[in-house]
Amino acid sequence: MDKIKIIGGNQLIGKIFISGAKNAALPLICATLLTKEKVSLSNMPILSDITSLNALLDVLGVQIEEKTVSSGKNTSKTYTYQSKNFKNLIAPYDFVRKMRASYYVLGPLLTREGHVELSLPGGCAIGARPMDIHLNSLEQMGAQIEIKNGYVIADAKKGLKGANIIFPKASVGATCNILMAATLAKGTTRIENAAKEPEIGDLIDLLNAMGAHIEGRDTSVLTIEGVSKLKGAEHAVISDRIEAGSYAIAAAITKGKIELLNANPEHLLAPLNILRAMDIKITEKPESIIVDARNADMTGQDIMTDYYPGFPTDLQAQFMALMTVVPGAALVTENIWENRFMHVPELMRMGANINIHGYASAIVRGVKKLSGAPVMATDLRASFALVLAGLAAEGETIVNRVYHLDRGYEKLEEKLKNVGADIERIKEPD
Ligand code: UD1
Repeated sequence: MDKIKIIGGNQLIGKIFISGAKNAALPLICATLLTKEKVSLSNMPILSDITSLNALLDVLGVQIEEKTVSSGKNTSKTYTYQSKNFKNLIAPYDFVRKMRASYYVLGPLLTREGHVELSLPGGCAIGARPMDIHLNSLEQMGAQIEIKNGYVIADAKKGLKGANIIFPKASVGATCNILMAATLAKGTTRIENAAKEPEIGDLIDLLNAMGAHIEGRDTSVLTIEGVSKLKGAEHAVISDRIEAGSYAIAAAITKGKIELLNANPEHLLAPLNILRAMDIKITEKPESIIVDARNADMTGQDIMTDYYPGFPTDLQAQFMALMTVVPGAALVTENIWENRFMHVPELMRMGANINIHGYASAIVRGVKKLSGAPVMATDLRASFALVLAGLAAEGETIVNRVYHLDRGYEKLEEKLKNVGADIERIKEPD
C-alpha cells in the first residue's frame, strides 16, 4: 500500500486548480441511467471513486466512452454514458462495499426498469449510515421493498407514483435518490426537508436538461412533476467545494498564500467566514478564491458542523488539524456523523492537545508545534487532516493508507508540491 511522506515546515505559496466535485459527479453518473440516450459529463475529476462507479455501470451494461481533456491549467475527463438496455439490474456487494455511492443506482433503475437489487452498503468508519429514508420514501411512491441476504430487492412493476414525502433528516443521498426516482414517476412528488447542498443543485440542473420538471432548486422543498421519458444532455460538473476548502486550510496552516482556481466562493460561505474571523485575508474573484494567511494573527475558533449552508462535516477534520497549531482554544462539534473523531488520536500522536467530550464535541488547545510521526486514518477527509498536520509539523510525517486520499483528492502530491510542499508518494506493493 502506498504511503505519503511529508517534511513539514514549508510555507505554501502559489495556485492550485480545483477539480470537479466528486460528490456531485457520483449522482450525475447514476442519473445517466434514466435515459436510453447519450449523456456527456465533463470536468469530471480523475479519482478512484469515479472509476469504481463506472465499473459498476459497466456491469449493468452501460456503454461508457472516456476522453481526457487538457487545458493549460488542468486535466479532467469527459465521460459519455449510454444505457440503451441493461444487462442486469443487480448492484453486487463487492461494488457497493467499495463505493457506498453505488446506492445511487437504486432510484434510477427502479423508476426506469421497475426492479433493482442493491447490496446494502453497511456502516463505515464515520457512522452507521442507514438507508431508511431512501427506502421509506420509495415505499411511499409505491415500491415493494424486501431486505433479503443483505440485499434491498425493490419492485415497482407498474412504475412509481408521485407522493408527498417529508424527510426526517435532510439527507443528501436520499434527496438525490428520490429526485431521480421521481423524474419518471406518474404524477407529482413533493419532498419536504430536502437537502440543499450545491451537489443537489448540480443534479437538478442535469435532470432538467434531460427533460425533467423539477422546481425548488436550492430550497428545502422540491417539486418534481414526473415525465414519461428523459433525453440525452451535456453537462459540466461543478467544482469541488470540499477540495477547495481543504487547500484553503493548507494555506492557513502553513501561513501561506494560495489562489484556488476554479473554486466557487458561494459554495464555501461558512468555512470562508471562519477563516476571515481568524484574520486570514480572503479575496473572492469570479473564478477563484485567494487565501492569504501570511500576516494573519490567528486564534482558535469554535465550529459546529451542520447541513448546508452550515459548516460542512467533510471539512471538520481538516479544520481541527488547523486548530491544533493556532493559539487559544476551539470547540469542534460534529452534528452530522456519530463517529467522526477518529483523526483525534492520530493528531495527538503528533503532539496535539485535544479532549473529546461526550460523543459530539472536542476541545482543541493550540500547541506551539506538532512533531512528525507515522500516522494513518480510516477515512478520506481524516486522511487529509493528517496531511495538513504533516505540512505544519516539525520533521517527517508518513501518512499510511493513501487509498483513502486517492478516492477524493486528485493529484494530491502534485498540487501540494507545486505550491512548495515537501511531499512525495512512496510506492509499495499491496
Ligand atoms: C453525503 C456525502 C458525505 C457527507 C454527507 C453529509 C456523498 C457521496 N457523500 O453522504 O461526504 O459527509 O453527505 O454532508 O455525497 N441518514 C439516515 N437515514 C438515511 C440517510 C441518512 O438516518 O436513510 C442520516 C445519516 O446517518 C447522517 C445524516 O442522515 O447522520 C446525513 O446523511 P446523508 O446526508 O444521507 O449523507 P450521505 O448522502 O451518505
